[in-house]
Amino acid sequence: MDINSLELKYHRKISQEAEHSFYGGVVPELASRLHTQALPALLEGVKPYFDLIKAIAVTSTPGLSVSLLPGVSMAKSIALALNVPLIGVNHLIGHIYSLFLHDEPKFPMGVLLVSGGHTMVLDVSSSGELSVLANTSDDSFGESFDKVAKMLGFGYPGGAFIQNAALKSKNKDRFKFTIPLLHDKRLEYSFSGLKNQVRLSCQSLKEGDKTISEQDAADISYAFETAACAHIMDKLKRIFEQKRWSRLGVVGGASANLNLRGQLNDLCDRYGCELLLAPLEFCSDNAAMIARAGIEKFKKCDFDDVATLDIKPRSSIEGLFI
Ligand code: KG4
Ligand code: ZN
Repeated sequence: MDINSLELKYHRKISQEAEHSFYGGVVPELASRLHTQALPALLEGVKPYFDLIKAIAVTSTPGLSVSLLPGVSMAKSIALALNVPLIGVNHLIGHIYSLFLHDEPKFPMGVLLVSGGHTMVLDVSSSGELSVLANTSDDSFGESFDKVAKMLGFGYPGGAFIQNAALKSKNKDRFKFTIPLLHDKRLEYSFSGLKNQVRLSCQSLKEGDKTISEQDAADISYAFETAACAHIMDKLKRIFEQKRWSRLGVVGGASANLNLRGQLNDLCDRYGCELLLAPLEFCSDNAAMIARAGIEKFKKCDFDDVATLDIKPRSSIEGLFI
């Protein structure tokens, strides 16, 4: 298959954000029901391209089982109906391919993966093998934005709300949150302590029946975003010292954060490292990145059996190849 002849023919995203926003996070039962409603609608849009389809790629791991299952079931049905191979794709590898939607993957490189479910620094070797250099021991970067947004009365997902509120802060020194694990040599992330610092500030603001004002929320958002990004950068700088990558890819829904992007740009400039970012539209979960990862497996005839492909809600990417 000639990669240069490939183009994104059709791409659509049906968001569940408005429905989950009311609850301040993803409600599994609701996600499952909404997926089941959305999939036939998506299929309708793809029908005109059926003749072009050479394989069906689908996310099979990791993720919420109630979200993975409807997708895998539908993918199996289409693969059988069109008599084309089925390809199970790892969601995280899919995110890495959001960097290479239109070109060949480049490695070796470092990858910072920041999403709602994961916060990882990965090393991609010259043969494309993945190793995990840093992981989070509790909440992920994106999840901490979601939880803080909920405390401040914003909607879900919280990332964009916090980022926008932070820009409205008029008193940037009002709240100072400690950067997690700053004096700890471990290459590990942790966001639950930072989230608790925010919780305590919210509680003290609410004392005596008071409510959190728009300005309070803006000042807290600023201080939280500053500390959360500083935590990402602190561990990443230590890894840079060891790895000296010539290329860093940053992927996942939270890689849309402009504060983080700015700091990553500065870091890469300082180390003479090429910074690879996905277009904003393809940072958050999307089908294009899964299809793109599927193409690499298609080229290797790495297909899955319709009868046996199963979902795997939890899995490790250590040692996998992209
Ligand atoms: O990759 P993604 O779409 O879904 C998962 O695989 O989890 O990432 C969604 C996450 C959410 O937690 C959301 O709040 C976060 O990405 N996010 C952001 C921003 N935009 C989205 N976090 C921080 N700043 C943003 N601008
Ligand atoms: Zn994702």
